[in-house]
Formats: sequence, C-alpha cells, structure tokens
Amino acid sequence: MKINLANIKKAKKILDKSECVAIPTETVYGLAGNAYSDKACKKIFKLKKRPRNNPLIVHYYNHQKLKKDCVFNNNFIKLYKRFCPGPITFILYLKKGSKISNFATNNKKSLAVRFPKHPVTRNLLKELNYPLAAPSANLSSKVSAVSSNDVRDDFGKKIRYILEGGKSSIGLESTIIDLRNKPKILRLGGLETSLIQNVLNKKVLINNNPLKISSPGQFKLHYSPGIPVRLNVKKVKKGEAFLLMRKKRIDKSNYFFLSKNGSLKEAARNLYDTLRKISKNNYKSIAVGKIPNKGLGKTINDRLKRASKF
Ligand code: TXA
Ligand code: MG
Repeated sequence: MKINLANIKKAKKILDKSECVAIPTETVYGLAGNAYSDKACKKIFKLKKRPRNNPLIVHYYNHQKLKKDCVFNNNFIKLYKRFCPGPITFILYLKKGSKISNFATNNKKSLAVRFPKHPVTRNLLKELNYPLAAPSANLSSKVSAVSSNDVRDDFGKKIRYILEGGKSSIGLESTIIDLRNKPKILRLGGLETSLIQNVLNKKVLINNNPLKISSPGQFKLHYSPGIPVRLNVKKVKKGEAFLLMRKKRIDKSNYFFLSKNGSLKEAARNLYDTLRKISKNNYKSIAVGKIPNKGLGKTINDRLKRASKF
C-alpha cells in the first residue's frame, strides 16, 4: 500500500489537539485518540456510545514506546518477538507514573496494548509522542468496520477525519491475551490460539465465557448485524439471507459466500463486510451454514454466536 504522508500529517494535527481520527489497522478500523489525554479518551466513549466501564486498547509503535507505561514479563517478550507488529493484544500491569488517562483504563491497574501492523498507522504512530487509544470504529454492539466506508456509515460527519488504509487484511479483531498471571485468552481473534501455544510451549487457558466477563466488551450482545441470526442451518427460510462458507454452484440473490474455495482466512476477511451488506439489503434474518470450528473458524463462529444472541 502506498503511504500518503500528507494524510498522516493531517491525522497527526487533529490528534495533537485531542480530537479523534479513524485509523486503519490490519484487524479492523479503530477510532483513535491520544491515550494520555482525558479529553480525547472521553470523546472516544461519547462518539462510540460506549459504556465508560469498558476500557480501551492502547496502540503503540513498538515496545520501546511502551516501556514507560507497562511492566514487561517473559511471556510478553516471547510473544512480542514472534507476532508484533500484528493481531494480538496483551493485558499487562500498568506502571506507576504512567501517563495513560484513567478514562482509557477505567481506573484499572492493567492496560490492553497492541502494536498494529498496518503500514499507514505504523507511520502515524512513529510520528506521535503519545500512544493511541482506539476501540473498533463502529457503534457499540454493532459489527466492526473493515473499511473507511464502513466507518462513514456508522459515524457520518461526527468523526473529523478518516485516515484511508484500504480494506483491513485480516478482518477480525485482535486476539486478547491476559499476561498478568498464567496466560489466558480473553477474546479469540485474528491470531490463532495454536500459534500462541506453540510459542509459549504450553496450553493456554481460554476464558471466552461471556457470562464471566473479564473483558467487559465481551458481553453477549456484541457484533450484532441488527437482525436475528440462525446458526448451523441446512435449509434457508423465505426472506432470509443465506451466509455460506464457500461458493456454491447454485447462486441465488439471497446467497452470500464468505470464500471461493473454503479458505478460513478469506472467510474472516469477508465476514463483517458481508454482514453489513446483508443488513443493508432488508433481509428479515440471516441463516448461517456450518463453518469449520478450527483455526480462524473458531473466531468466526465465536462472533456469529454472539451475533445470534440478538
Ligand atoms: O483488533 C483490535 O483489537 C481492534 C483494533 C482497532 O485494534 N480494537 C478493538 O477494540 O477491537 P475494542 O475496544 O472493540 O475491543 C477491546 C476489548 C474490549 O472487549 C475491552 O473490554 C477489552 O478489550 N479490554 C480493554 N482493556 C482491557 C483490560 N485492561 N483488561 C481486560 N480487557 C480489556
Ligand atoms: Mg469492538
């Protein structure tokens, strides 16, 4: 992707004033503000209509920039070396004296941190002397945005500026892992659990139960396309959109395919896009065919399960 330096300069100028800018990342678009500024963080919550008790992920250029704010440990160093920049978010202890706004953390002593890989946002982060708090750039409880058009659909003119970065290449949010004690995955995401386990050389706990909310944003009614969703469907009903893992010979106007040949990576990339497309087309509900429950398929099924709690 070609980097437009003028756009990055413009984003910086707005962010320097504690205003918000939408930024592209390889997972999904983020609604970003200066994480050291109360004013900027408060604005993020307001724009997103996000409950104040749901803390924000803070985005850094690299570990050097994070040093002032968080306590490192061995597991963090191992995972950082292997996967960063990339689609993984770490929960670490906040350092005393860190300048992170209490609004970003909801006054907690922990911080969610991530090092996004998207070249446009990396260029921006490199220029700033503060990290960026950025939740996904969608209205609270709706599906995340994977393009600048999605962000525009949700926020219209309410966001001062959207930094263009094309379509998000992964299309699912980052995997969240709590590293304060025994490593524990709090949200399945764009990085497969098995790859994390390989690096840590042990089985990692998955605490993805929405009833035991350790990541407050993981409550049930999340990732909702706004209409009912039925899972593992073999036969579609009248008036329903049919969301299928791979392209079929029968191609009807209410059939939506996540991939050409059954690639889970491609399906992940197309998931939110397709859900948004279906919502715009006035279907009463969405029937979803079976999706293999392995690798990224687990994350896709997790999101669809939450969407089905409408
Ligand atoms: O891929 C991503 O992670 C995207 C891009 C923009 O980076 N961001 C994203 O942010 O998905 P958001 O706000 O939609 O989801 C962040 C999740 C929420 O469920 C929140 O509750 C959880 O992270 N979280 C934030 N701080 C936390 C903390 N200190 N402890 C546990 N969970 C935390
Ligand atoms: Mg979100």
